[in-house]
Amino acid sequence: MTIRKAVLPVAGFGTRVLPATKAIPKELLPVVDRPALQYVVDEAIEAGIEHIVFITGRGKSAIEDYFDFAFELETNLRSKASKAAILADVEKTRLPAGGASFTRQQEALGLGHAIWCARDIVGDEPFAILLPDVIVKAEKSCLAQMVEAYGKSGGNIIAVDPVPEERVSSYGVIAPKGEPDGRLIQMSGMVEKPPREEAPSNLAITGRYILQPEIFGLLADQGAGAGGEIQLTDAMARLMQMQDFYAYEFEGAPYDCGSKLGYFEAVLAHAIDHSEIGADARELISKV
Ligand code: G1P
Repeated sequence: MTIRKAVLPVAGFGTRVLPATKAIPKELLPVVDRPALQYVVDEAIEAGIEHIVFITGRGKSAIEDYFDFAFELETNLRSKASKAAILADVEKTRLPAGGASFTRQQEALGLGHAIWCARDIVGDEPFAILLPDVIVKAEKSCLAQMVEAYGKSGGNIIAVDPVPEERVSSYGVIAPKGEPDGRLIQMSGMVEKPPREEAPSNLAITGRYILQPEIFGLLADQGAGAGGEIQLTDAMARLMQMQDFYAYEFEGAPYDCGSKLGYFEAVLAHAIDHSEIGADARELISKV
């Protein structure tokens, strides 16, 4: 069954980059000339997603405005011939009418709870999740790679990426099993934010998922896990006992924009490849 819907949890406070995120949602911080969230939405659209479900929260209404029709702004730009290119960029940010839903996660109870908030909007079909903290720079969008793999394997698929051992405790980590089949890896388990010495591998869950709708029933009664929060990883570990489940080692470079250093890296990587400022950015960086 085609993956038509994607859930993007955007309710987080952005505590790791405060005070920058005090009045601006962290997802709208610019990476060169576009909000971080725009890269993630583009990734979803490239993968064939038709409907995006944003799980928002209080103080995040700027996100809804960003993806709407900006009537006054667009009318103003349209009246000036010299602004045609800017207008075209602004027009591209508008999501198609009926192609997005916004629902609030009223309390910060964890990622698992945020995803559960999408249950009625997603309904009874397989769907994708993209965590907007992570931007993946890749030839072919990370989710598009996963959708292609899903076309052959079915089941559930989560993106993984090797991380240095000292960072495993910041992520969900998988326990691989047997020989990988190309980029698809079988698993015997997964655990959220394990202490370094208990981590089953250094393959971290990278924030891209294709899941079957049965996850919602499991999330409904999922107790609190790591950090006292309802964890998606714990519910996925249960789903793995019932259905086919694979990890997918994608091609591309992930940047964790939720952290200061990751955000800085994302800006650098996108600046040096930018069509307009790339060459100058490289020169500038070589002088720093
Ligand atoms: C979440 C997930 C974790 C995953 C990570 C990727 O954690 O719970 O499994 O590895 O995203 O960024 P968070 O970063 O929200 O604490």
